[in-house]
Amino acid sequence: MKKTLKESGVGTPINRVEGKLKVTGMAKYATEFPVKNKVYAQGINSTITKGEIISVDTSEAEKVEGVLAVITHKNAEKLKTFEEEMPELSTPSKAPVLQSSKVYYYGQYVGVVVAETFEQAQYAARLVKIEYKKDPDPTFQFDGSRSKAYTPEAQEDYLRGNIAEGLADADETLDETYTTPIEHHHPMELHAVIASWENGKVTAYASQQIVEDSIISISDTFQIPKKDVRIISAYVGGGFGSKLYTERHVILAVMASKMLGRPVQMTVTRQQMFTNTGMRQHNEQRMKIGAKKDGALTALSHETLSHTSTFQEYQEPCGMMSKMLYNVPNNQIKYRLIPMNFQTPCAMRAPGEATGSFALESAMDEMAWKLKMDPVEFRIKNDTQVDLGADKPFSSRLLIECLRIGADRFGWDDRPKEPRSRQKGNWLIGYGMSAASRNAPYQETAAKVILELEDEKVFATIQMDATDIGTGSYTIIAQTAAEYLDIPVEQVTVELGDSNFPITPGSGGSWGAASYCNGARAACESAITKLKENRNIDKDEEISVAELLKKNQLNRYEAEGTVAPSEEFEKHSVFSFGANFSEVWVDKDTGMYRIKRMVNVGSAGKIMNPKTAYGQMIGGLTMGAGMVLAEQTKVEPNFGNFITRSLADYHVPVNLDMANIDVIFLPEEDKIANKMGIKGIGELGITSVAASLANAIFNATGKRMRDLPITPEKLI
Ligand code: MOS
Repeated sequence: MKKTLKESGVGTPINRVEGKLKVTGMAKYATEFPVKNKVYAQGINSTITKGEIISVDTSEAEKVEGVLAVITHKNAEKLKTFEEEMPELSTPSKAPVLQSSKVYYYGQYVGVVVAETFEQAQYAARLVKIEYKKDPDPTFQFDGSRSKAYTPEAQEDYLRGNIAEGLADADETLDETYTTPIEHHHPMELHAVIASWENGKVTAYASQQIVEDSIISISDTFQIPKKDVRIISAYVGGGFGSKLYTERHVILAVMASKMLGRPVQMTVTRQQMFTNTGMRQHNEQRMKIGAKKDGALTALSHETLSHTSTFQEYQEPCGMMSKMLYNVPNNQIKYRLIPMNFQTPCAMRAPGEATGSFALESAMDEMAWKLKMDPVEFRIKNDTQVDLGADKPFSSRLLIECLRIGADRFGWDDRPKEPRSRQKGNWLIGYGMSAASRNAPYQETAAKVILELEDEKVFATIQMDATDIGTGSYTIIAQTAAEYLDIPVEQVTVELGDSNFPITPGSGGSWGAASYCNGARAACESAITKLKENRNIDKDEEISVAELLKKNQLNRYEAEGTVAPSEEFEKHSVFSFGANFSEVWVDKDTGMYRIKRMVNVGSAGKIMNPKTAYGQMIGGLTMGAGMVLAEQTKVEPNFGNFITRSLADYHVPVNLDMANIDVIFLPEEDKIANKMGIKGIGELGITSVAASLANAIFNATGKRMRDLPITPEKLI
């Protein structure tokens, strides 16, 4: 029986434990650590899309006061690079940089200037003269390049049943293509690092999502033991997937520090974040669906054509939801990639679902309309409690409940059933909906707890190499420790983001909350168990941690705990589910539209903190709305560079663009997922939002929008 925790334990909406540090500027982000004697590095970007560097003139740059080094492929340290052709991008991937004269994409780092001040480095970087030999035939447009598409090794074609037979068996069929543009993550905190190389050992203060994988990247690239690399990533101002990887600025800073014997700070500028820190690639998704008159799906085919770089492979798994969400006997998922002269794309919030759900849930709406069926009922008709794609039961699946509760909350029954049937003045009013699901992985995690007894009170410190990318990790880990030690959260300190602490999977893929909290729980439970065992106290006896420490005659005690997915977890498909409902008003003359209302119902296991969870969901919903309203990176059609180069032209939604957002979590604990029943929500929020809005726009205007973003000119 927990006594003290009504106000701060698991499931309570406490404020962020690190909130004060953040709003007072005391929380240290990567470049805010007071590293003595540091110098500044500024990357130089290629100004061609494909070709070769034929000459480099650094003389002018070297004359600038304060300049310490100009590093290009000519004098860069030789690093370990890829062993194979087109290796798959992974979170501990190497990031070779300045290893040859070849240029593979516009903006590629071709050099770096290191100077005493940031301004000197920036100024000198502009004085480095590089001559190129352009390759006459770069690839940066889909049209004309489709014949170069290949099947990625890691994403082989998937088929269950027979698509042609399924389509032949259908009363209604659909064959449509949905396109999404290149997008960029643009976390508020720029990618940045301070790296120092001392006696063969590296310390890097870096804004990274996964500390352990950064250790692997650096140790592998520089061929030094993992134990000689230390990463500190105490606070991360957003990542959205782009900081999963150890990007080239980190490698450059380490290299420069090694060459100069001084700590090197390197910040990727906002403009460089378009070319040097990943992106979501352009996708063309062709959907073929067949259904019977009663709504039963007979076939579902999802083919994705996208692009990777010419030297490394990344394929966003857009067909993931189409493989598992519905009860369809004939199902096909295909991926094709065109190697193009852009940087390697990478995971961006809900990689696979964010874009794949736009195709799937738009197509499902189109099919419901063809069948004259309520789109909510159409989804419910095709519900399944077994993941047919993996041939495993779901650990829990409350999709029908999400749909019904959302419909009720939103007032779906009162919707304008025919397009253009509800108007108010110049506004065409439309309602739309979509179903959502997101993989809820859980990974091996370790944590340490340090207990200290002072004046009858127990103070606890939790240490893990986990990161808080703005999501609330510090807070929910503190709540977990408070809960399992039965002490107030004010007596818990959480220390994260240091590779000296026990290893976690970091923040990504929505696995952070479940992994971190269960890891912290295991450490606390292990401490209590061992303290009881030491004194032969029955494991079920209720005794406070303070008493336990006293009985052990200890005023300090440390313990570690580790968790990993159970056999039951492996036997199930573990996903979170959700439903989106939205109301959009479209001006019938200008095509300008307003998102008026959004209702989101989520079934995501135990919600650790309703306040931080709500923050995650409105962030995800806003990012989903951004996919529809504005987000797109434009490629210059002649040169292959990006012409959207700042947040002035790469638009993201602001408060005025957003609706009233209603977020509901179904009470749920998924004990198959993990002992605490947590599933994670970092990516559920963005999933299927775009389809819900596009479907509302169809309902308002009668126009199907299959190409994101849906800018007003497309509606007139
Ligand atoms: Mo996420 S795209 O795994 O940060």
